[in-house]
Amino acid sequence: MNDPNGMVYYNGVYHLFYQYYPGGTTWGPMHWGHATTRDLFHWEEKAIALYPDSLGAIFSGSAVIDKDNTAGFGKNAMVAIFTHHNQKMEDAKTGRHQYQSLAYSNDEGATWQKYKGNPVLPNPGITDFRDPKVMWYEAGKKWVMTLATKDRITFYSSPNLKDWKRESEFGANLGAHGGVWECPDLFPLKSNGKTFWVLLVSINPGGPNKGSATQYFIGNFDGKNFVPKSKAVKWIDYGTDNYAGVTWSNTGSRKIFLGWMNNWQYANQVPTKAWRGATTIPRELTLIDKNGDLFLQSLPVKEFNPLLKLVYSKKFLSASNELDLSVNFKPLKGKVKLNVSLENKGDLNIILSNSKGQKLVIGYDEKKNNYFIDRRQSGETGFEKGFAAKHVAPRIANTTQLKLSLILDEASVELFADDGLTVMTDIFFPETPLETLKIQKKPKNKSIGVSLWSIDKDEH
Ligand code: FRU
Repeated sequence: MNDPNGMVYYNGVYHLFYQYYPGGTTWGPMHWGHATTRDLFHWEEKAIALYPDSLGAIFSGSAVIDKDNTAGFGKNAMVAIFTHHNQKMEDAKTGRHQYQSLAYSNDEGATWQKYKGNPVLPNPGITDFRDPKVMWYEAGKKWVMTLATKDRITFYSSPNLKDWKRESEFGANLGAHGGVWECPDLFPLKSNGKTFWVLLVSINPGGPNKGSATQYFIGNFDGKNFVPKSKAVKWIDYGTDNYAGVTWSNTGSRKIFLGWMNNWQYANQVPTKAWRGATTIPRELTLIDKNGDLFLQSLPVKEFNPLLKLVYSKKFLSASNELDLSVNFKPLKGKVKLNVSLENKGDLNIILSNSKGQKLVIGYDEKKNNYFIDRRQSGETGFEKGFAAKHVAPRIANTTQLKLSLILDEASVELFADDGLTVMTDIFFPETPLETLKIQKKPKNKSIGVSLWSIDKDEH
């Protein structure tokens, strides 16, 4: 898989569609795969939802529930708005090979019909013209489409999902522009009772640690124009492996985000066999005011909590600067959650390793005020020249206590520091599982808290 697509919640079920090529484990003519879940953790694989057709392959897009039957496909139809990508010579030559189309389902996503009037938004002459994210804009009683157009965002609106009117363009002289803009999302979130609009924009390449990454802007949207509050570039995740993430539609004021845990720098080369690509765990997004500036905070959804089984928990002042928690860690296979807190900030290294000397180090560097993930010696790294690297992220919080929460799996780590203010997601490929866990702190007389939870393999 690559991007998550068409994420929509309906009748107690979270639908996830995704970029999928069933003919191999590298990128190919794209389909929309389909999976569903009720609790955001136990997934059921469904039949492929959308196949390529004479207008092209099925690139990324979104899905909505058309409660009032504005499009005429039926009350409560599930409508997918996606990019058709046509590789036919004549289209490719003009550079107008991407346009937006519709498909709909009247049986909760089980079967799909493509709209006969496709495409609904033809290409105006922009080579990169894709990834429509559509939402209902209640204040203006209209649909709003947020579209990636080269390295800009263009907003469109429609009364019926079929006829689209261009409203405005955003992004000149704002944000990061090291690559093309892709997979945007626009949604409201409240902070201290006041509504703000969040615009997510994935960019490839040009991320803070190279390759693909997702930046965000916070501002106001009036149904036509998006105006950001600040010009600073902010990243939803500083790791290298959280791309093309967007939020579920139809979840009310709750915003749940899911990204593709990979990077176009090496997505087609990672050393996996039967599969390639996975998602992050679902994360709930909230807004937080830090010294007058607004930031997104992401944390694993609360549905995760009942699945956790506490294995170890201790809060203490240790005279030594290295703690060996391998005894507690060793029996664990599959996903675990690890929380580490330092009462007063100092240097911290969380070291996971195996008997082959391969290791992954996650931590905090007090002098640089950076969190980091170092995968230089994490196992197989030679499949791409930039993979073996140490990734860094600025600490945004200014509290004296350091708080790190990690979701670890056999080939991925998701770091939520300071309650999700600084986030890093990285993948890695050890030849045997990393089964030794050590924590180093400097200076040594720091009071530390450590908790470790497991999730049974059968649980996910
Ligand atoms: C982002 C992306 C999208 C596109 C899709 C194609 O990862 O490049 O812009 O729609 O992947 O698979």
